[in-house]
Amino acid sequence: MCGIVGATSERRISEILIEGLKRLEYRGYDSAGLAVLNDNGDIELVRRVGKVQALKDAVGEQPLSGTTGIAHTRWATHGGVTEANAHPHISGNCIAVVHNGIIENHDKLRQQLQQLGYTFNSDTDTEVICHWIHHERKKHDDFFAAVQATIKHLEGAYGTLVMDCRNPGRLVVARSGSPLVIGLGIGENFVASDQLALLPVTRRFIVLEEGDMADITRTEVKVYDRDGNPVEREVHEFDGHYDAGGKGEYRHYMLKEIHEQPSAVRHALEERLTDHGLADDVFGKGSLELLKRVKHVQIVACGTSYHAGLVARYWLEALAGVSCNVEIASEFRYRTSHVHHDSLLVTISQSGETADTLAALRLSKQLGYLGSLTICNVPTSSMVRESDLAYLTRAGAEIGVASTKAFTTQLVGLLMLTLAIGQFRGMSHEQQSAVVQSLKVLPNKLEEALLLSEAIEALAPEFADKYHSLFLGRGTQYPIAMEGALKLKEISYIHAEAYAAGELKHGPLALIDAEMPVIVVAPNDELLEKLKSNVEEVRARGGIMYVFADKHAHFKSDDSMRVINVTHCDELIAPIVYTVPLQLLSYFVAIIKGTDVDQPRNLAKSVTVE
Ligand code: G6P
Repeated sequence: MCGIVGATSERRISEILIEGLKRLEYRGYDSAGLAVLNDNGDIELVRRVGKVQALKDAVGEQPLSGTTGIAHTRWATHGGVTEANAHPHISGNCIAVVHNGIIENHDKLRQQLQQLGYTFNSDTDTEVICHWIHHERKKHDDFFAAVQATIKHLEGAYGTLVMDCRNPGRLVVARSGSPLVIGLGIGENFVASDQLALLPVTRRFIVLEEGDMADITRTEVKVYDRDGNPVEREVHEFDGHYDAGGKGEYRHYMLKEIHEQPSAVRHALEERLTDHGLADDVFGKGSLELLKRVKHVQIVACGTSYHAGLVARYWLEALAGVSCNVEIASEFRYRTSHVHHDSLLVTISQSGETADTLAALRLSKQLGYLGSLTICNVPTSSMVRESDLAYLTRAGAEIGVASTKAFTTQLVGLLMLTLAIGQFRGMSHEQQSAVVQSLKVLPNKLEEALLLSEAIEALAPEFADKYHSLFLGRGTQYPIAMEGALKLKEISYIHAEAYAAGELKHGPLALIDAEMPVIVVAPNDELLEKLKSNVEEVRARGGIMYVFADKHAHFKSDDSMRVINVTHCDELIAPIVYTVPLQLLSYFVAIIKGTDVDQPRNLAKSVTVE
């Protein structure tokens, strides 16, 4: 989704802005632009459709002369992907604005501005912001006051960064619903929608709270809360572990992140387990007092994180003895739901900023839940800051749009949640120890699963000319089949559907033919025999299957079935282990299809608008 970078310094900043945008590329975007206030007090604007590289080429070898500037990567919402719609937007050659989010009342504001004589050069909602500030500027001598007056008219979600030609060396930001951080330098300060953008220039950040505005110069940062009162916000030192670094030896971030899973899980386990259970405070100080009272869990999430929730439901109900519902956040937030007695609201999110999940968390506070817990990867995110309890997945920065290590580390956290709640609800010591032992061997099992890479790469050509595919699993492997199908869709653009294998005969069997590969996840669990019957149903109809199976499951390759033996592992961690070969499959198919693996078309890493 859209990204924001801004800087005010003594040095020329166009290169810092472009490097910042490059570091935000992973979030997904379709055009990019920057505006720099040059030494003559004029705004220099450069915008390009496509990659940040195109913007960099347009700027040329020489950095632009200005020392204050703003920049943006746009993911189109209002108005097509054109240069005119790319940000920054300018009013009166003097006010420049970049904006993340959506201004919901933009139509009304646009009409009012048109009546005042403003001409619009784009189809975006953002352009109303810069004209309105320009309009307010006629009434307010002070630039900050003009932005403040404008914000009062805006409805919707926004993270906005503004520059004014009459105030060189000054930036104003406002946050409402779209994250923004201020990066603190020495004799220079920065703004970004994600701290990763600013790591080459600073490691010290202020995370703006909802409703905050800030007035930023080279030497000073003043923050005001939603009521306009000056406030001190904590300065965070960047957590080094969260730095993505480069791609290293890997061709794509996604492949690097797939291979990082054993070490990410090791890191996630550090100091969190004892021999027989959980260390104290894994979910935050005093968390056990709250978890002790939980009788029901309501999980809310989107995308891959939703699939993690679906797996957790099996664990929580079977092991922890609590009932559990799992719902997509965009559905949950807009329906009237029944709140169970002593229910814990759990959000799962890599970014901690997904608009629908965040809205569901905020809504839950009025609904009578016992409390809220987030399973999240970004320590400074809105979800972590606004939830009662937080579990950090410690996956490190995930750059590939298609989520991989964030998912497997979420599952680790959810197994720990199962332990945390289960210990109060009759989970025996043996059961708790079994979970602990399974988790401890998980990193090695993931390493073994990664050894399948070559075998899976060899299979990939068989998928590359297919238009449809079907993923089958049962029990905890059903959500893993869903996640496998999502991965294939996201990065190879092949239509992929997942079914609980037992549902096959209720519709999808009609689709089976040699042109639709059927991918089956078959660990050696209690549902194996049932799954084998489903496999026969596919075989009898001429389907071609790719079975990821435990070696003890006794599947044999033949004309209609390719068997890929996955390392033997405990049933409990099998959903985590079997995720890896499915990730690799989608990766290698995408490579053959030549797609943009790390930034697949039309998708964004962090969906901060509805
Ligand atoms: C986007 C990403 C997915 C992710 C989903 C939820 O769609 O492309 O990879 O699973 O958002 O994101 P979250 O940050 O809340 O886990």
